[in-house]
Amino acid sequence: MLARTIKERIYWMGAVDWDRRLFDSLVPLPDGTSYNAYLIEGSEKTALLDSVDPPMANELLAQLESVSKIDYVVSHHAEQDHSGTIPQVLEKFPDAKVISTPKAMGMLGDLLRIPEESFITVKDGETLTLGDKTLKFIHTPWVHWPETMVTYLEEDRILFSCDFFGSHIATSDLFVIDEGRVYEAAKRYFAEIMMPFRNVIKKNLEKLDSYDIEMIAPGHGQVLPNPAFIMNAYRDWILGPPRNTVALPYVSAHESTKRMVEHFAAALVEKGVRVEQFNLTVTDIGKLAMALVDAATIVVGTPTILAGPHPYAAYSVFLANALRPKTKFLSIIGSYGWGGKTVETLAGMIPNLKVEVLEPVLCKGVPSQTDFEALDRLANTIAQKHKENAFT
Ligand code: FEO
Repeated sequence: MLARTIKERIYWMGAVDWDRRLFDSLVPLPDGTSYNAYLIEGSEKTALLDSVDPPMANELLAQLESVSKIDYVVSHHAEQDHSGTIPQVLEKFPDAKVISTPKAMGMLGDLLRIPEESFITVKDGETLTLGDKTLKFIHTPWVHWPETMVTYLEEDRILFSCDFFGSHIATSDLFVIDEGRVYEAAKRYFAEIMMPFRNVIKKNLEKLDSYDIEMIAPGHGQVLPNPAFIMNAYRDWILGPPRNTVALPYVSAHESTKRMVEHFAAALVEKGVRVEQFNLTVTDIGKLAMALVDAATIVVGTPTILAGPHPYAAYSVFLANALRPKTKFLSIIGSYGWGGKTVETLAGMIPNLKVEVLEPVLCKGVPSQTDFEALDRLANTIAQKHKENAFT
């Protein structure tokens, strides 16, 4: 794709990756993604903000063919999908200096072997003039690595936010036209990589409150002409109370656990509790992560296999522990054949979760009426707990 004009002398550059379906060999990208770089031409100096993932370097380099000079390359984040092509940009523009936080300088040295003499590090709140355009650098750590910052272009009131407020969407639209689609993708992105750091991100959001932001230009997805939409969404995901929802990841070997899950889900719904059910043999793990942003309760359904939880169930619990959602309650349901340590194993995997563990329901073999009644009691307890906490 060719460079595109956002405002006078401010250009989108980068690459749209329509085909990518997995990030970090972990995170599903059902809608592809984009790697956004931005070129800002001041009356005296020119800055390139970020670059692209190395496999798409040629797209950025082709866009830079007509650019006669770059004085600064701003690196907001050392992860290679944004920084990976900076070495090639520096080859083309050897006098350009890399602008980054001090921490990013070290990381870019480790990851890309960019020498220290290529850098100018900036403090939080420091500005850099391009002549008639001024870049202000705002340190926003832990979105989602420790070195991250954003840039506020003062005269045009544009926030260049890199991963912050981004969404994995491949599209030919330069600006957001469908906020619903972006909300879904941005929530998925928040869930997958930012949720564990939400207490720090909350402070970053507060820091941005004092800026008059006309639009947000993120590192993935479209430019956001309505910053309040995405900033309010982040506030809700970070600060809002959990919802009256049970996230129910499960796996079943011989249908017994599945029958328990289906009975339990119906009991919850009958008591007014929302359910998001995920069969772990087929689910998109990003959907589960999104459910964890809001769900007040997680209930894991698993058979006992090899004397412990099914590995898929263990994976979902490992993921929940790593993502540190604001979930308040957790329980386990499932069937076993002859014994095992399913509950003990899963309970030992959640040191990061500040949850009350509710009495699990495990049954031997095929669930009986007594087991279904135990599931009804668990559903009732969850409904009561959600009501007491006024979760809606
Ligand atoms: Fe889009 Fe953290 O990289």
